Amino acid sequence: MIFPEYRPRRMRRNTTLRAMIRETRLSASQMIYPLFIIPGKGKREPVPSMPGVDRISVDQLKQEAASCMKVGINSVILFGLPEKKDGVGSGAYANNGIIQQAIKELKNTTPKMNVITDVCLCEYTDHGHCGCLVGHEVDNDATLELLAKTALSHARAGADMVAPSDMMDGRISEIRSALDENGFHMVPIMSYAVKYASAFYGPFRDAADCAPRFGDRRSYQMDPANSREALREATLDVEEGADILMVKPAVAYLDIISRLRDEFDLPIAAYHVSGEYAMIKAAAEKGWIDGERVMAETLLSIRRAGADIILTYFAKDMAQLLCEQEE
Ligand code: PBG
Repeated sequence: MIFPEYRPRRMRRNTTLRAMIRETRLSASQMIYPLFIIPGKGKREPVPSMPGVDRISVDQLKQEAASCMKVGINSVILFGLPEKKDGVGSGAYANNGIIQQAIKELKNTTPKMNVITDVCLCEYTDHGHCGCLVGHEVDNDATLELLAKTALSHARAGADMVAPSDMMDGRISEIRSALDENGFHMVPIMSYAVKYASAFYGPFRDAADCAPRFGDRRSYQMDPANSREALREATLDVEEGADILMVKPAVAYLDIISRLRDEFDLPIAAYHVSGEYAMIKAAAEKGWIDGERVMAETLLSIRRAGADIILTYFAKDMAQLLCEQEE
């Protein structure tokens, strides 16, 4: 049937009809809010390139978690800035490291919060790379042990889920074995399976102070030109035991999210990264776009492409908006 018998506009006439046939929805339960933890007490420092995002000290976590829970955000992912950095990123797996403290604080004050940890060394190494070095190269196999130690120390501190973001080969199976051998077989791994060497991470590197001091991350993060390789990376992580596959960044890689959705039956997560957030914030501050509507439309596009879960600095704002819309 075609026009004039069939008229698509019939189903767009009012909000009730539009809501009834809506194919994709956003939900606070599928958003993860990133938190940056800094040493010290009573600290809350705004990140200049990420308006609305603060770096906070451990004692602020109770209040921060409460503000998340209030709007239905029950999952956070933690990034830490250590007191001191060194060549092998020992702050990442220190028993009382910044993240280990943060996990304990969250689990003590807000036991219902789903605490996910980013597992990587770049915030903890003095050279800013995601692993230890041989000369100017990141040593893949030597790094695996350090990543497994980091993930295990997070689990011991009480983390509910670990999320390796380093892009070393073989890290999922190494982490899975370390967790299993120590009784943490119920701690899932959300793998940054398909992580591109992206310029959209710029503001994050300011927030987490983890820009590489020399070179770049192109020998371990993926080439933005490649999509078949994304399937291969994801396949390896599935075989190694990943529970959730993540694509990162999100909006410039919606095709990748969609391909992974078609090819795999695991939950798919997408990281709407710092640069993607900052661009919307900046344009909205200038009055060039309606920030709230662009936020909602962007996050919806990520869900529509096939992501189940979205990691986003907009999580609280979007959840708040969803609460208001339901009223
Ligand atoms: C650590 C890590 C990065 C991000 C998440 N984990 C930075 C990087 O790989 O350079 C980026 C997140 C963002 O931009 O919001 N490896």
